[in-house]
Amino acid sequence: MANSLCAVCLLLLHICLSVLAGRDFYKILGVPKTASKNEIKKAYRKLAMQYHPDKNPGNEEAEEKFKDLGAAYEVLSDDDKRKQYDRHGEEGIKESHGHGDPFSSFFGDFAHFGFGGHQRNPETPRGDDITVDLPVSLEELYTGNFVEVARYKPVAHTAPGTRKCNCRQEMRTQQLGPGRFQMTQHEVCDECPRVKLVNEEKLLEIEIEPGMQDGQEYPFLAEGEPHIDGEPGDLRFRIIAEKHDRFERRGDDLYTNITISLSDALVGFTMEFPHLDGHKVKIVREKMTWPGAKMKKQGEGMPNYENNHVKGMLIITFDVEFPKGDMTQEQKEGIKKILQQDSKQTIYNGLQGY
Ligand SMILES: *[C@@H]1O[C@H](CO)[C@@H](O)[C@H](O)[C@H]1NC(C)=O
Repeated sequence: MANSLCAVCLLLLHICLSVLAGRDFYKILGVPKTASKNEIKKAYRKLAMQYHPDKNPGNEEAEEKFKDLGAAYEVLSDDDKRKQYDRHGEEGIKESHGHGDPFSSFFGDFAHFGFGGHQRNPETPRGDDITVDLPVSLEELYTGNFVEVARYKPVAHTAPGTRKCNCRQEMRTQQLGPGRFQMTQHEVCDECPRVKLVNEEKLLEIEIEPGMQDGQEYPFLAEGEPHIDGEPGDLRFRIIAEKHDRFERRGDDLYTNITISLSDALVGFTMEFPHLDGHKVKIVREKMTWPGAKMKKQGEGMPNYENNHVKGMLIITFDVEFPKGDMTQEQKEGIKKILQQDSKQTIYNGLQGY
């Protein structure tokens, strides 16, 4: 009796503790406790896109999930808050909660997501756009990544005094006498506060999204050259896909070459090799493999940029390495007996197929 009472007590205590402990942010984001910041960002991005209210109008469950995600991201993406959370749970960081919307700060600069419009007045003068090449490995294009780029950007600060600004030409008409007028052109300016450009460091976070293509541009609105009387231009990063030593990409398909031994080619083989994210690709050949034979593996290509769940093909071309050296007469007879192939030579146009 006492025992079972105690069990009830323990159960109650357990329930109390878990309520106190608050939400499990790691579970909400679906990442392990050891997850890196990068993994947390990736997980957040994926889920936040999925549960964003714009995509789920009127869906209360999605709205709840989206709020939980925001709270989880806010805490786990901040080293200090994450430490506190790991030690004391959500209670430990309650006070500092609810500053801003992590989603908009996370996606604020990401113009191509299509959240929130940025209206531009075509009349306003604009600074130049800047395009910067960003070398990206095939691994990063496969799994996605977050990279930070420090940008020294001239920022306008007000300075004492005024300057002429918004200058324009205006026509003035002057009456010189009865029926006589003179038109003259004048430059008219406003008085603006003086500004000076001060270099400021700004950290830009760029997301390499899975499936991005070579040459694709990644815009940061208003991060380009400033314009003293108008808006700054845009800063664009151009994705430059680096060459890979094992894979070549065409569209969403990947190509690779594998050299096998003659004996593997004849009797078959199994092998494994690591893909771009480290998962193993397994190959099983029971039939003979001739030089130049191709094998297609569906779903082992690159993720599609629009839909990461769709992947292209991996096309493997086999090359056969012949053994070196000579064989004894006995070995030669043995191979003839095994292969049972008639001696045959066909002569054909050497340019065929080119
Ligand atoms: C595979 O081999 C062919 C022919 O040598 C070559 O053109 C191609 O670039 C190779 N592919 C890869 C991914 O190395």
